Amino acid sequence: MFEATGRVALVTGAGQGMGVGIARALAAQGAAVAVNDLHPERAGVVADELTAEGFTALGAPFDVTDPDAVAAGVAHVAEALGPVDILVNNAGVPEGMAVAPFRDLPPTEWQRYVELNLYGSMHCIRAVVDGMCERGWGRIVQISSGAGRTGLAFGVSLYGASKSGIEGFVRHLAMEVARHGVTANCLALGLMANTAGADESLLGTMARQVPVGRLGTAEDVGAAVVWLASAEASWLTGQTVDLNGGATQH
Ligand SMILES: NC(=O)c1ccc[n+]([C@@H]2O[C@H](COP(=O)([O-])OP(=O)(O)OC[C@H]3O[C@@H](n4cnc5c(N)ncnc54)[C@H](O)[C@@H]3O)[C@@H](O)[C@H]2O)c1
Repeated sequence: MFEATGRVALVTGAGQGMGVGIARALAAQGAAVAVNDLHPERAGVVADELTAEGFTALGAPFDVTDPDAVAAGVAHVAEALGPVDILVNNAGVPEGMAVAPFRDLPPTEWQRYVELNLYGSMHCIRAVVDGMCERGWGRIVQISSGAGRTGLAFGVSLYGASKSGIEGFVRHLAMEVARHGVTANCLALGLMANTAGADESLLGTMARQVPVGRLGTAEDVGAAVVWLASAEASWLTGQTVDLNGGATQH
């Protein structure tokens, strides 16, 4: 079950963090994986590691917020590995993301959240969805966050708004492409172990808030993506799946 042999996967923002776990899990199921990142060296290191482990992987650096770069990057992936069957839109944390209350954020700061999480994800989807529909098979997995549906007091309103936006878009897209063998779902992550800047004691406090008693890992995310991207998940579409150790209930 959940075999991805013969499939080509593109994972955005896979040069570090959750994306590495997603790329490795898909590669382990047999997919040829294009490792995207804004930073070419990060994408290259991960692709080289996967290749050294015996998997098929390619560094595919480009900025997902630049539609021309996305089109060229996806064309390069298709040439090297084949057309993209599985797209995982994982890039979603703007560089130097400010954690600050809305009242302290100037309007000039708003745009980059929407540029990355909404338009960046849409550019990648636009570049692969026609081919998926024409071939009658495709999987789009959007990495989102609990912040998209739960109000939080610690300064992530713009981030949360951009995640809500892409979740709404994916629900509609899923309906439009459902008859073409293409599914589109969101995976909303909870408290993860790589939270930037958090020290051991804060991570411990965070872990105690999670019903299963630990923070999430890149391996947890990879396993869930493998399922959403599988042939067996063909009847699951238009959904947002919470992956959070039971931490939020809707
Ligand atoms: N880590 C968490 O606590 C957490 C919680 C909820 C949701 N998420 C979501 O999980 C996903 C991955 O998070 P992470 O913590 O691994 O992030 P991260 O910041 O550790 O890594 C993301 C990677 O994306 C790349 N990137 C940024 N902008 C890009 C762009 N324009 N084009 C291409 N690549 C770009 C970065 O260079 C970086 O290597 C994101 O969508 C995030 O919103 C994370």
